[in-house]
Amino acid sequence: MGKLLVKNIGLLQTPVGSFAHKGKQQGENLKLKNAAILAEDGVIIEITSDGKLPIDEDSCHTVIDAEGKLVTPGLVEGHTHLIFGGYRQNEIPLKLKGASYLDILRAGGGINDTVKKTREATFEELYAKTEGFLDEMMTLGVTTCEAKSGYGIDLDTEVKLLEVLKKLNEDHPMDIVSTFMPAHVVEEKWKGKEKEFIDLCIDEMMPYVKEKNLAEFIDIFTEDSVFNAEESERYLKAAKSIGFGLKIHADEIKSIGGSVLAGKLGADSAEHLIVIEDEGMEALADGDVVAMTLPGTSFYLGATFAPVRRMIDEFGVAVAMASDFNPGSCPSLNLQFVMNLGYLKYRMTPEEILTAVTINPACGINRGDKVGTLEVGKQADFVIWDAPDMEMLCYRFGSNLAIQTIKKGILV
Ligand code: NIG
Ligand code: FE
Repeated sequence: MGKLLVKNIGLLQTPVGSFAHKGKQQGENLKLKNAAILAEDGVIIEITSDGKLPIDEDSCHTVIDAEGKLVTPGLVEGHTHLIFGGYRQNEIPLKLKGASYLDILRAGGGINDTVKKTREATFEELYAKTEGFLDEMMTLGVTTCEAKSGYGIDLDTEVKLLEVLKKLNEDHPMDIVSTFMPAHVVEEKWKGKEKEFIDLCIDEMMPYVKEKNLAEFIDIFTEDSVFNAEESERYLKAAKSIGFGLKIHADEIKSIGGSVLAGKLGADSAEHLIVIEDEGMEALADGDVVAMTLPGTSFYLGATFAPVRRMIDEFGVAVAMASDFNPGSCPSLNLQFVMNLGYLKYRMTPEEILTAVTINPACGINRGDKVGTLEVGKQADFVIWDAPDMEMLCYRFGSNLAIQTIKKGILV
């Protein structure tokens, strides 16, 4: 592959270390002026600053001139429902007439509608559609992404989705981390029989997916009208006992104990947290759970925004931000827009935001040792931005400011 040199970096900004950054650490970034990065075989081998070059340009296979721009680690997208049939643009008029997200779901629409369309879609159709999303994400600066199943619900369709993701992980430059999420909705035929459905997940689905090595994590929608805390606990404990990492959609619409459960079980991350209470924030901090906040969903649902300032300042929770990309509650995969929302709605600093879209989500998906910071020994995943600093990147919205995305030392 040869050596890649990126020279003339006006500002190189990155969190440091392979751990989830909490409290004050969330806002600590290394800033190097006039920097250069040298990579070989997809890994960073040297970083210099103050105009010093690590190597003679002529001995490099590729030299990129960053022209004085900002360079950060590649963005890590920690939460998506990336693979689904159809879309749900028909729900906006219903919402505008006053129907809530749960009203639509309870009436048999919402996730149920996407499950139907996903079951109808072929492997090839899902592959092509998801590949398009991955291309778009990379153009926007994302180099690693988590992706959930969850629109199949039955084992066959869930396996189809996870196999598409596995194939894309092999074929596409994006690093994809898969999460199995059969407990995403209570299908009509399981209404009133949630216990039996959880039994099915535990006895048949989880062991199969584990044995075929189709997913690293498990997730569940712990919510009013979906799965309660007790069912979630049984499901997550069983998943943990056979080696899955744990994720939980918690406190999105009603607080029914999801984040407390995440803390108690030591989940890798807890998702949403829009209506989290103090007890939940304390549990996340004590359990070392990454708070995977999803401000694009608050924006699209017209909901309030997760209390991120309090999570950082009062409770010392490690905060990540992700898109939640899905057809029903956030039909955008633009992590740059998520950063804008982090600035204006969560009132995070640009440094905290960078941590929230790089090392903290990387730790939430168990990739903190490989990606999420620019350091010697880490993957050469980074972005050259059309911005002089993070302040500009967090301020301008609606444009794509990523000029070049570099994945494992290769321009994509
Ligand atoms: O994280 N809340 C559950 N799952 C997704 C939405 C899925 C959908 O509406 O299709 C979420 O918001
Ligand atoms: Fe989600």
